[in-house]
Amino acid sequence: MARCFVTREIPGTAIDRLAAEHEVDVWPQRLPPTREQLRERVAEAEGLLCMLTDPVDRGLIEAAANLRAISTYAVGTDNIDLAAASERGIPVGHTPDVLTETSADLALALMLAAMRRIPDGDAEVRAGQWLTWEPARLLGHDLHRATVGIVGLGRIGRAVKRRAEGFGARVVHSGRTDGVPVEQLLEESTVVTLHCPLTEQTRGLIGEGALRRMRDDAYLVNTARGPIVDGDALCRALREGWIAGAALDVTDPEPLPADHPLLGAPNLVVAPHLGSASHETRGEMADMAVDNLLAGLRGERLPQRANG
Ligand code: DGY
Repeated sequence: MARCFVTREIPGTAIDRLAAEHEVDVWPQRLPPTREQLRERVAEAEGLLCMLTDPVDRGLIEAAANLRAISTYAVGTDNIDLAAASERGIPVGHTPDVLTETSADLALALMLAAMRRIPDGDAEVRAGQWLTWEPARLLGHDLHRATVGIVGLGRIGRAVKRRAEGFGARVVHSGRTDGVPVEQLLEESTVVTLHCPLTEQTRGLIGEGALRRMRDDAYLVNTARGPIVDGDALCRALREGWIAGAALDVTDPEPLPADHPLLGAPNLVVAPHLGSASHETRGEMADMAVDNLLAGLRGERLPQRANG
């Protein structure tokens, strides 16, 4: 029986399966453990089931003498020092595939919300501003006439491509080794949607230069990771009309404080990192995260291993 730390309560019954075999300590609060609290709890643990909000850095990994397996309740692993884990021979599991379609749905929902101005319309109705049907009020742009530029044609990027084509949009993509150059994608697309991982190469990829390359009738959609976009540059782009609008499911920082300047920019839709947030998908992610941890603690190959 191994000691496991689970950094948040997660939906479904998967944790019961973990608890049937191991001693499980679940962080009970809505807010995550602080860096110090995390380090303290993990110091004693053999298994760690963490969230994308937990910084599992080299210091934490090196201080956790008994740690034998890490499993993250996410597909993205940018919060985990994979190299440090590999050096210690600790396998890291993650949750690809099960969240692909749900994340792609959210990207399309945000795209349409921004392009068709759904939050603006909702706000007008609630404010008593729906005075009559008006020919020129709340006009947006059509997805079926758009050129959707997908940055990163991985699992989620491909799922977004299928959906955008289903809407009748033209799709171009840019990848590390295929597709069109990202500069061309930025210049051609009326929707630029980001589906690449956060790496040293993609951090700040969409900065002032990229935003100025985009068309002034184009929308930026980010459901990948916040730091891929330079928030200050995006704020200026929206205020000064370099682009038509943006829809973000991820931000930098995350969470975005309610008084953050970006929230004062026009034509912006923001969701609080809901990409995988359906009952069904979060349940499947929980099962996969627990299966990964159980396998790691048994010394078996993880079903979905992110390192080595
Ligand atoms: C992930 O799993 O990396 C997603 O961002 C969660 O929605």
